[in-house]
Amino acid sequence: MPYLIKQKTILIEGQTCKMVIEAPHVASKAKPGNFVILRVSENGERFPLTIADVDQENGTIVLVFLIMGKSSALLYSLNEGDSIMDVCGPLGKPTHIEKCGTVVCVGGGTGIAAMHHIAKGHHAAGNHVVAIIGARSKDLLLFYDELSAFCPEVLVCTNDGSMGVQGLVTDILKARLEQDKNVAEVVAIGPVPMMQAVADCTRPFDVKTTVSLNPIMVDGIGMCGACRVEVDGKTKFACVDGPEFDGHLVDFNQLRQRLGAFKEQETLSFEEYKC
Ligand code: FES
Repeated sequence: MPYLIKQKTILIEGQTCKMVIEAPHVASKAKPGNFVILRVSENGERFPLTIADVDQENGTIVLVFLIMGKSSALLYSLNEGDSIMDVCGPLGKPTHIEKCGTVVCVGGGTGIAAMHHIAKGHHAAGNHVVAIIGARSKDLLLFYDELSAFCPEVLVCTNDGSMGVQGLVTDILKARLEQDKNVAEVVAIGPVPMMQAVADCTRPFDVKTTVSLNPIMVDGIGMCGACRVEVDGKTKFACVDGPEFDGHLVDFNQLRQRLGAFKEQETLSFEEYKC
């Protein structure tokens, strides 16, 4: 069954895009932390995207993605009124959300959009949500307005200082943890080095730290083993055991290695697509 693209917004020209997709059965069940697996066309690759928002009334979900290779470039090439062949989900375990006090949600890159849905869930549960978001520059910062709509604090950093503090999300996070001893949990979503840096930052403070992992996935239902990650010395399947795990127990180096396993083939396929 094809899935209609109801709305397409270019967030960063030629790079990052937001799509509102009609998928009522996904929207009716999706919870913060869930993801979907897409297949753009019949012979297309299956790839996962975390759900950035849900509108149950209108039966739509929001996806935000960066062009990483052929499949995401193909998706980017579609427009409002076009259809995606498959949207399978909601998949993965939803975020564990309970009323716990102050929750700091850290996001980088397109991870900010994925973090938005989780931050919204914590806000709905009555938690005080502090969002820390970062980008290379102001023009590349996503979801500032969307987060500001419900987060009492949205703290921004940019590498070039064009908005907020000049520096990294971990600079703001460390300062926050030093002055605020009531942070119950830190949630981080973004590039692997960022999530690893967040886990390293929170470790000395002994604050619960949740990261959402983004390994290569194929089936998304625990059958293929493509998404295996090491957590606390044990093999876990991110699609069914996660995608969220205790950041202090994740083997980030192995994750990075596995994410790069098909770089050569991915680059070749993307180059061929562009020709
Ligand atoms: Fe196949 Fe997780 S994607 S086991």
